Amino acid sequence: MSSLVIVGAQWGDEGKGKITDYLASRSDVVARYQGGNNAGHTVEVGKEKYKLNLIPSGILHADKLCIIGNGVVLDPEAFLNEIKMLQDRGVSTSNLKISDRTHVIFPYHKKIDELSELQRGSNDIGTTKKGIGPAYMDKTERTGIRICDLMKKDVFAQKLKVNLESKNRYLKEIFGFEGYSYQELLEKYLDYAEQIRPYVADTSVLVYDAIKANKKVLFEGAQGTLLDLDFGTYPYVTSSHPGSGGVGTGVGIGPSMINKVIGVVKAYTTRVGKGPFPSELLDETGDYIREKGFEFGTVTGRPRRCGWFDAVIVRYATRINGLTGIALTKLDTLADMKTVKICTGYKLNGEIIREFPASIEDLAGCEPVYEEFEGWGDISGVTEYNKLPTSVIRYIERIEELCGVKAAIISVGPRRDQTIVIDEF
Ligand code: IMP
Repeated sequence: MSSLVIVGAQWGDEGKGKITDYLASRSDVVARYQGGNNAGHTVEVGKEKYKLNLIPSGILHADKLCIIGNGVVLDPEAFLNEIKMLQDRGVSTSNLKISDRTHVIFPYHKKIDELSELQRGSNDIGTTKKGIGPAYMDKTERTGIRICDLMKKDVFAQKLKVNLESKNRYLKEIFGFEGYSYQELLEKYLDYAEQIRPYVADTSVLVYDAIKANKKVLFEGAQGTLLDLDFGTYPYVTSSHPGSGGVGTGVGIGPSMINKVIGVVKAYTTRVGKGPFPSELLDETGDYIREKGFEFGTVTGRPRRCGWFDAVIVRYATRINGLTGIALTKLDTLADMKTVKICTGYKLNGEIIREFPASIEDLAGCEPVYEEFEGWGDISGVTEYNKLPTSVIRYIERIEELCGVKAAIISVGPRRDQTIVIDEF
């Protein structure tokens, strides 16, 4: 049995797309377990660049079974656009399956997301406005509409009627927004239903059978540990469980079926959206990292906030996710800096704390404690670990020591061939 989870170990955008693409080439099945088209990653294959939001990166390998698990929330319009983009570029989507238990996003979810953010004013969360939170709210309220409902015309027509009446009332009373026409939405979604139908399956069975048959299964997380609904910087989080704990409920397997958990970790820290960020660099060093590392959101285009590597965060992620290794990305972005820093702990009310606090008020009061390291030159062409400059190796080893986890993969550039593998899957 061989199964591996890939999680973001920081605030998302750690470069999971590239690492997933690499590990997907060594897998038989790639399954996404949470989030929706709020996620976005770019995979470079030769001269081609693919931007994916919903569909697992495994889709770029023709022989892999790709699964969108029940823990995902699916916007049919975004999904079908992504399918079209892939097909137009000659990528087959015949190996893709969506769980019949996946919840569906509707225009009212997106509208509620947008108007709720506006209403929060300066206290907004900074969501992607893709309707993710409101769709998960319906799921937990037990009024959500799932793919299996969408596949049955009468069931869907009835559920949409009930939901739309209450959503339109809510939109009108709280936000003064007129709402949506039942007939238009019904027709649109019934049309989507027929386009989606060939992809629908009981995907938990497919994953279970693959693991039982000794196939290699990769579980692909979106976002990151600090955006996890339970363990992230609440309320500045997403509404799902990007951590490895999300795999069981998001795909439909038990914890005993997971072998390894790889945390993807950027060589520095970034975050989009609001909320405290202790090692944030609000100076020209932060601007330098942003420009050099192309740190702009794939989904919203927003500039990402940048800061030094924070070992408190990655040590926390190691514990929360049970990481068995890390994939350290974007070391090349820090090249040509005279010195680089690692945040090794926080000072809160005059005391050094080692653990990541629950309260964002405490986190906002944390001052980073830094260690400084000698920088390095261009490493984008290095293909073996031992050929990396000693200053980089010292940086990596200190990260391993502080976070209590070993590096399994080192990435020195965006291309597939710019990957140094220490521990094979
Ligand atoms: P939502 O997921 O759109 O509800 O947004 C909630 C928070 O998660 C916001 O701070 C977003 O910026 C952040 N977020 C959502 N998806 C991603 C992602 O893929 N990368 C980084 N941040 C994300």
